[in-house]
Amino acid sequence: MKLADRMSLMGTETAFEVLAMAKGLEAQGKKIMHFEIGEPDFDTPQNIKDAACKALKDNQTHYTPACGIADLRQAIAEHISKDRRVEVKPEEVVVLPGAKPAIYGAITTLVNPGEEVIIPNPSFPIYESVVNFVGAKPVLLPLDEEKDFRFDISDLEKMVTKKTKMICINSPHNPCGSILTKKDIQGICEIVKRHNLWLVSDEVYSKLIYNDEHASPLSEPGMKERTIMIDGFSKTYAMTGWRLGYAIAPKELVDMMTRIGINIWSCPVSFVQKAAIEALRGPQDFVEKSRKEYIRRMEYIHGALNGIDGVSCRKPRGAFYAFPNVKSFGMPAKDVMTHLLNDAGVACLHGSAFGKYGEGYLRFSYATSLENLQKGMPLVKESLEKLKK
Ligand SMILES: Cc1ncc(COP(=O)(O)O)c(C=O)c1O
Repeated sequence: MKLADRMSLMGTETAFEVLAMAKGLEAQGKKIMHFEIGEPDFDTPQNIKDAACKALKDNQTHYTPACGIADLRQAIAEHISKDRRVEVKPEEVVVLPGAKPAIYGAITTLVNPGEEVIIPNPSFPIYESVVNFVGAKPVLLPLDEEKDFRFDISDLEKMVTKKTKMICINSPHNPCGSILTKKDIQGICEIVKRHNLWLVSDEVYSKLIYNDEHASPLSEPGMKERTIMIDGFSKTYAMTGWRLGYAIAPKELVDMMTRIGINIWSCPVSFVQKAAIEALRGPQDFVEKSRKEYIRRMEYIHGALNGIDGVSCRKPRGAFYAFPNVKSFGMPAKDVMTHLLNDAGVACLHGSAFGKYGEGYLRFSYATSLENLQKGMPLVKESLEKLKK
């Protein structure tokens, strides 16, 4: 088939491919433990589901404004104003079907072919994919295990050229489980202002942070006018399948991202938006309960991985991913991943699925029960120790 040339520029997300491989093995009768996919295993809280059901019963089943219903934009503006300590107006909020469309929207509305976007690497693969898709150049800033999977601000500044248009950051971080400190964020903001750049700050894991305070560039002076802050409902409220996220951005960008929506999805799903209002305004005990549960699982998996000969793992500080170093096995991380899938029936991801600086690492999602982790980790140990023999 002769596809349009631009399609060769678009990447993918390996998590979905590995999930398909694992499901294929399951279809052949093999038992697989799933640590590959990054979605909360909890059910969406009942009050949120009830709000969606009520909206359906009330026939909230029609098109809504493309940028989201006024009540939800108001609820998001209030939530972010309080949470990130900055005044956000409803017209600075655009609601989209997930955080992913917000990433796509931010990059496509701002970045021209030939311009450069600095992206820490390894990272969520969609940033690099969309930057390539618009004909721009991703400039990869290595995340250093020795620096707790962060980077020196001076190294970031060295990467800025005349062509740099944007920096993308993500804290807490997928796949490394690391965070950017307030000092890191302040350093990044200084560079963004000094060089007149745009900052995309993907904060979908902002509520899943363990012992630190979440630092957002939106809270820094002079940053609201040059930041697209992305958050959503998938991770915080276990709503991955509902497809709802949002961006906080200057009004002109909100209007352009809305135009993308008008061209592709028309509007976010009507009754899901009603449920999202309940998510933000209803009780928040689910968020704290799930965060505490992720800490329990993190403590277990961190200990279990470090107990395997040849594996070392930094302690995750947020999100729900462990990113162990498996370089001592002397083979590509993808081969280690495939070995674990076939030999132990354990599905995880290879770090290189998140970019070239992820080589030598695996990503285990611990968005699964402690019981599953306790069953799976001994299998990982046994299987990896075979590779050492
Ligand atoms: C860093 C990051 N950003 C965005 C997303 C996408 O979130 P959503 O389900 O809201 O599209 C994910 C999902 O894995 C993610 O890890």
